[in-house]
Amino acid sequence: MTFWSDKKILITGGAGFFGSQVVNQLLEKGILKENIRIPRSKEIDLRKWESCVQVVKDCDIVIHLAAKVGGIGFNQNFPGQLFYDNAIMGIQMIEAARQENVEKCVVVGTICAYPKFTPVPFTEENLWNGYPEETNAPYGLAKKMLLVQSQAYRQEYGFNSIYLLPVNLYGPGDNFDPASSHVIPALIKKFTEAKRDNKSYVEVWGTGSASREFLYVDDAARGIILATEHYNKPDPVNLGSGMEITIRDLVNLIQELTGFVGENHWDTSKPDGQPKRSLDVSRAQKEFGFKAKMPFREGLKQTIEWYKQHTAEAIQPQGSGNHC
Ligand SMILES: NC(=O)c1ccc[n+]([C@@H]2O[C@H](COP(=O)([O-])OP(=O)(O)OC[C@H]3O[C@@H](n4cnc5c(N)ncnc54)[C@H](OP(=O)(O)O)[C@@H]3O)[C@@H](O)[C@H]2O)c1
Repeated sequence: MTFWSDKKILITGGAGFFGSQVVNQLLEKGILKENIRIPRSKEIDLRKWESCVQVVKDCDIVIHLAAKVGGIGFNQNFPGQLFYDNAIMGIQMIEAARQENVEKCVVVGTICAYPKFTPVPFTEENLWNGYPEETNAPYGLAKKMLLVQSQAYRQEYGFNSIYLLPVNLYGPGDNFDPASSHVIPALIKKFTEAKRDNKSYVEVWGTGSASREFLYVDDAARGIILATEHYNKPDPVNLGSGMEITIRDLVNLIQELTGFVGENHWDTSKPDGQPKRSLDVSRAQKEFGFKAKMPFREGLKQTIEWYKQHTAEAIQPQGSGNHC
């Protein structure tokens, strides 16, 4: 609490899937609601410079989570928007924070910034060793520029901006809109509905051979808070659980947990995205004591349960996608 006492905290994207968990955990720590500012995109468009200047006024800490995000299909359809919106929001937010003499800026990047063929587990040193997987490159690179900005501002202005690279997130409160959902909510929705409607098969994207790592959203929020409290260096830090699962095994697991007994049809005309993904998570543990807690199977069960209880509200008009 000492770190947060009396601090004014701006959390851009604080009403989103990830941001709302960060806000919840800050409130649980005893931080007063009035000390947390959450700009909503309907009223304040952070692609505009004046909006960034307005929201950052009198803030001590900025946690920048606002972003336009999407899955493989969304990334393929809107690469221009994903590049522009994420670059412009981030660049202006960091610059506005610097001009306003904000004490600390926490910038949230993405695993999509890593080169397509990074050897697993991904260490932070590998971040610049190649071009990202094509479908998520505009998104990943736009966010990667914010790492360059953070490091340059630290060097030139002594501005305390840190940069975190969360892996794919999942958990209660995720976006289940099929037009833009991440792979886990997309599969949960498909299998739950297939079971309910007694369907004989479910269609899934790709070959199933790609691998992914997933981090429960509560763990990720705890990681952001720990880093905000304890980490003050220029080097980027992975935020993950250190697990790795193939999409085929993930599909089988979600099928089992939802109780669907039909077949899976793999649509191999759809892209797999990045071939392999799993993070070296040792830097986060060493630098600010972060270690993921939620076992994957248990986290999936909780997410499925949440979806069953909140089916109607789980589909948001706009939001994240089938994350790269
Ligand atoms: N989800 C993941 O798997 C994952 C993994 C790695 C990194 N991340 C990063 O984590 C952050 C949050 O992701 P998320 O999954 O929580 O996404 P999300 O649910 O879509 O939340 C993003 C938030 O950004 C805000 N936003 C978007 N455009 C804006 C604009 N022009 N002006 C102001 N606010 C705007 C939205 O605010 P409104 O609600 O007011 O519209 C929304 O709440 C992003 O930076 C993302 O890159 C996510």
